[in-house]
Amino acid sequence: MVAAMAQKTTKTPLDLEYATRSVPRYTSYPTAPHFDTSVTAEIYRGWLAGLDPTDPISVYLHVPYCRTICHYCGCHTKGARKDDPVIDYAEGLVEEIRLLGEAIGRRLPVAHIHWGGGTPSLLPTESFRAVVKALRATFDILPTVEHAIELDPRTVREDLAALLAESGVTRASLGVQDFDPAVQKAIGRIQPIETVERAVAALRGAGITAINFDLMYGLPHQTPETIRRTIELTHGFAPSRIALFGYAHVPWFKKHQRLIDEAQLPGAAARFALEQTARSALAEFGYEAIGLDHFALSTDEMAVKAKSGELHRNFQGYTTDDAGTLIGIGCSSIGKMHQGFAQNDPDIGRWRRAVDAGRLPIAKGKALDADDRLRADIIERVMCDYAVDVDAVCAAHGVTGAAVADAFERLIGPARDGLVEVDGAKLRVTEVGRPLVRIVASAFDVYLARAAARHSVAV
Ligand SMILES: C[S@@+](CC[C@H](N)C(=O)[O-])C[C@H]1O[C@@H](n2cnc3c(N)ncnc32)[C@H](O)[C@@H]1O
Ligand code: SF4
Repeated sequence: MVAAMAQKTTKTPLDLEYATRSVPRYTSYPTAPHFDTSVTAEIYRGWLAGLDPTDPISVYLHVPYCRTICHYCGCHTKGARKDDPVIDYAEGLVEEIRLLGEAIGRRLPVAHIHWGGGTPSLLPTESFRAVVKALRATFDILPTVEHAIELDPRTVREDLAALLAESGVTRASLGVQDFDPAVQKAIGRIQPIETVERAVAALRGAGITAINFDLMYGLPHQTPETIRRTIELTHGFAPSRIALFGYAHVPWFKKHQRLIDEAQLPGAAARFALEQTARSALAEFGYEAIGLDHFALSTDEMAVKAKSGELHRNFQGYTTDDAGTLIGIGCSSIGKMHQGFAQNDPDIGRWRRAVDAGRLPIAKGKALDADDRLRADIIERVMCDYAVDVDAVCAAHGVTGAAVADAFERLIGPARDGLVEVDGAKLRVTEVGRPLVRIVASAFDVYLARAAARHSVAV
């Protein structure tokens, strides 16, 4: 193993060429672009049948509909002005849950449920109840379950809050983004503060007290002053967790993002200043920084687990969910188990036809080998803790550090540039390196290294 020592640096992350490198967000390893059709519905059926009935699992349900599409949205969703397609979709979810129950062959305990989207609260009351009933009929929902849902505050009224509480929901994430009217206009998401007030009051009134806010930086018209004001107003609501996402502008992939005026988007330096302003305002208001983009009050489970090194990372980002198995339900959802990843068809029509034909709607995936599992664990610790004892993780996997010696070669540059300190087999991402933690994590990614090698041969 090659040890590399960090040197003192006065550079900011922006001065480094790494800032412009494209690296995965490591919500999984291997990352989704490496999934292929080798994982079929039949293979997944075998994985499901082999699950340990004593191990609590997690369930993710995807609802790919919203009333209107926000200009900035990068999520897998589409507009539905009427309820009909959403009702139809919910019937597909119920059928998929039944198929999963059949394939698993027994009732597994469920410790976490997460509804994402899109806007899952768009499901009409009876449809929502039907899906929850199907979950309860198929799985043993533990009394301690964390049942979370992503909500558009514009859809939250007292009746919805009551339905969620009755369904066992314990945590709600509200898409707030930014409170500034000029920013809201530019991103196609008009949401006066009174709307957020009404949503939070309805949820708290119904007993759903664990509240998260999603905020974004890098949006048109944002300035350090406006983002600070958004944080001040956010603080007034005292959400226990906040996610602060950097706006990902990919108009070639998400065509509706062309509605965003690129001339008004902040450049790299301005984006960095916005993030730093938001970060220090959040610290001032008592929020602890967690990983790349999360913040939590010190009493929140996420802050507690971050301190004890028990934080995890999954497709939703940072999570307290430590279940070894995640079952994805709905189009595009990704399931994860010891054997590998399996992703449902992202196309709503194809997903539905598979379910109606009694087939698990798997489109692709990735079977994991021992090396994938080892590197996934190391990458997760780097992303969550900004530090890892590589030898300790290797020992837990029954190998020595020699198994990932290639990564230490790739860390020489980042260590020289002050992103990471390497002390034997122990890594620590420096303060300067934190915004670039994905660069450090990527040193362990053999798929990225192979692609880079191919690329350099090609040119
Ligand atoms: C599924 S949405 C949240 C629930 C609900 N649909 C809403 O918007 O209120 C998840 C979050 O992803 C973030 N997001 C969406 N598009 C993004 C993009 N292009 N770049 C970065 N974050 C984005 C937003 O903060 C959004 O609240
Ligand atoms: S941000 Fe939320 S409400 Fe807006 S389009 Fe995306 S998923 Fe739908």
